[in-house]
Formats: sequence, structure tokens, C-alpha cells
Amino acid sequence: MKEHINIGLPREYADEMSAHLNKLLANFSTFYQSLRALHWNIKGKQFLALHVKFEELYNEAAEIVDEIAERILVLENQPLHTMQDFVKASTLPAAQNIDDPLEAVTFAIQNIRTLIDQERTLVSVAEAYNDHGTIALLSEYVISQEKQVWMLSASL
Ligand SMILES: [Fe+2]
Repeated sequence: MKEHINIGLPREYADEMSAHLNKLLANFSTFYQSLRALHWNIKGKQFLALHVKFEELYNEAAEIVDEIAERILVLENQPLHTMQDFVKASTLPAAQNIDDPLEAVTFAIQNIRTLIDQERTLVSVAEAYNDHGTIALLSEYVISQEKQVWMLSASL
């Protein structure tokens, strides 16, 4: 087997980064489903605003899930793709029976902060190998999610 993958990165690094990205993929998949649950279950005076906000967030999460999976394929590895594998690999809790606005927004903020931490860690791994493609992709998520934390926190 060649020591480098087709895009020129060392195979050993590509395999290591793919394993990290699969964990991030599993967490985003869990978060996606949690956002759907919050969108459905939310109650109270802020229902209309939060129902729409959680839909916006799960649509963004769905895009990210696809992009991370395809980055893993670019790195010549296989993305996780079954619910069972996502559950096994995920470190995020599932939003279950959350209908209170304060609890829902706090849950979302905590999840997003965990994802940002994970992305920052992966960026530092990617930097050591000049993997600018992965760095750019993850940095985009960090910027967008930092803004989400600000906006959601401002609503509390
Ligand atoms: Fe809906």
C-alpha cells in the first residue's frame, strides 16, 4: 500500500484524522436528532421563535454531517453510516423529553460548545500535517457555532 493517499497526505495521518472525524460525525448526527426533538417538543411563549430556530440549526447540522462524511472519503476512509454506529461512537447526550425553553436552549449551547472543543482539537492535529482542507472545513464550523453560542446565550 502506498504511503501517501491521492491528495498527498501521509496515509497514517489520513487514517488517524478519519477516525477523529468519524467521532465528530457521530456527535453531529446525535446533535442533529436532538435538534429535531427540540423542534418538535418545545412548548411555551417562545414556541414560534424556537421551533424555527431549531429547524434552522438542524438543517445546518445535516449539511455538516454530509460534509464531514465526504471529507472522510476524500481521506480515503469510510464514514460511519448506521444509527447503531453513531450511537456507539457519540459522546453527546440525546435530547429526550425536553420541552422547557430554558432547558432546550441550555442543552443546545452545551452541545455546541462540546462540538467546538472537538473541532479545535482536530484543527490542531491537522495543523501539524498542513492539512489545510480539513482545517478550513472545521474552522468554518467553529466560526458559525461560536456565533450560535452568542445568539442562543443572548436569548436566555
Ligand atoms: Fe418541522
